[in-house]
Amino acid sequence: MTSAKREDSRLLFGRADFPPDFKFGTATSSYQIEGSAFGGCGASHWDSFAATPGNVVRGENGATACDHFHRWRQDLDLVRDANLDCYRFSISWARVLPEGWGSVNEAGLDFYDRLIDGMLARGLEPFATLYHWDLPSPLASLGGWQNRSIADRFADYTEVVMRRLGDRLAASATFNEPWCIAWLSHFLGQHAPGLRDIRAAAHAMHFVLLAHGRSVEVMRGLGVKNVGVVMNFEYAQPADESPEARAAAKLYDGIYNRWFAGGVFDKAYPADVLAGLEPHMPKAFADDFEIIGAPVDWLGINYYTRKLIAPDSGTLFPALKAVKGPLEKTSMGWEVYPEGLYHFITWMHETYARGLPIHITENGMSSDDTLDAEGVADTQRIDYLNCHLAEVRRAIDAGVPVKSYFIWSLLDNYEWALGYDKRFGLVHVDFETLERQPKNSWYALQKALGA
Ligand code: FCB
Repeated sequence: MTSAKREDSRLLFGRADFPPDFKFGTATSSYQIEGSAFGGCGASHWDSFAATPGNVVRGENGATACDHFHRWRQDLDLVRDANLDCYRFSISWARVLPEGWGSVNEAGLDFYDRLIDGMLARGLEPFATLYHWDLPSPLASLGGWQNRSIADRFADYTEVVMRRLGDRLAASATFNEPWCIAWLSHFLGQHAPGLRDIRAAAHAMHFVLLAHGRSVEVMRGLGVKNVGVVMNFEYAQPADESPEARAAAKLYDGIYNRWFAGGVFDKAYPADVLAGLEPHMPKAFADDFEIIGAPVDWLGINYYTRKLIAPDSGTLFPALKAVKGPLEKTSMGWEVYPEGLYHFITWMHETYARGLPIHITENGMSSDDTLDAEGVADTQRIDYLNCHLAEVRRAIDAGVPVKSYFIWSLLDNYEWALGYDKRFGLVHVDFETLERQPKNSWYALQKALGA
């Protein structure tokens, strides 16, 4: 690991090291913690993806997850007691509209209503995300993100949610991680709906942004304040010095990092990626850029790691692959590369967000945490936070308006295709008893942010 050393288990930062209005928070998502079996929640494509052999470790799903649906009071207490300022959560489309459209599950909206009031009562600022991957199954059956009409359905869903909840939110995001929604799920096949199809991917890459733009329009119409979008970025470096590796890393960067930011902030897709995807794109896609590029109030950056990229055999686009790197890794096998966070904050600021507030909406790591009589000694996580917070500080010193930093995640939870194996939480969850136990990182945070 770089700069901050692991000499002890404390956070090397306090509030005094950041601007007075800088906020600290933690993030979760609905399907990963709530328990989709409760409260009239409809089926989502994650339920069927998980029920299909080979997709998810041990076939695990989010039916119970962390039972946050019933234990949310305790969970919000944990956020408050860590001395955090804000809480980023997501609203489940399938919980609010079990069919995807039409009749509202009032119990679902009531849940979020109480949750938001619960945050406010604890002095926590609610940061809502409208979509963190739990697409209602009836919409998935109609083609989901491949079908243009998803943008209208998402606009309608936005309206239902925001009419009820929009007045009490500190910030609202349309989407969490368009790259995962589109490319990871429709080209790489690793997340629901598990497709490996370039036309599906190209359509999803466009329609998710069209839905974003339509949702922004609806929120503007309702007077919802502080509207943004959360994108994930991965630092792409060539695996060697060859021109081929350099070109492969540049293309990876285009698909992952420049496509979605380009659509939203430049009303254009990067030419190098379009060169491969254009034959598979929806007709007249460029006509949608006025909607896609509707101004937003902030950009959310999710950052975890870097990838070393090499050319792959074969000629089919994109003909690249990630290879194993030499740096320290987390239990996800992800390299720890804090400098990448500085890179994305400054690059996004200069090239895309151009002065808009930037929120670090996710950063954190999984480790093989074990609970013993002394608690959970997650030293590597504390080091990880130190190194990444140092890069946030460096970016602020360089003049970027970074406004907050959210740790992924509050709780150990359902890590998608990896099931319950990967522990990202500040708080340990025993998935037999569902008992919560703060880890050392939680205590370190509580201490660093106290007073
Ligand atoms: C991000 C997701 C989040 C979680 C972390 C580890 O891509 O937004 O749900 O899975 O990765």
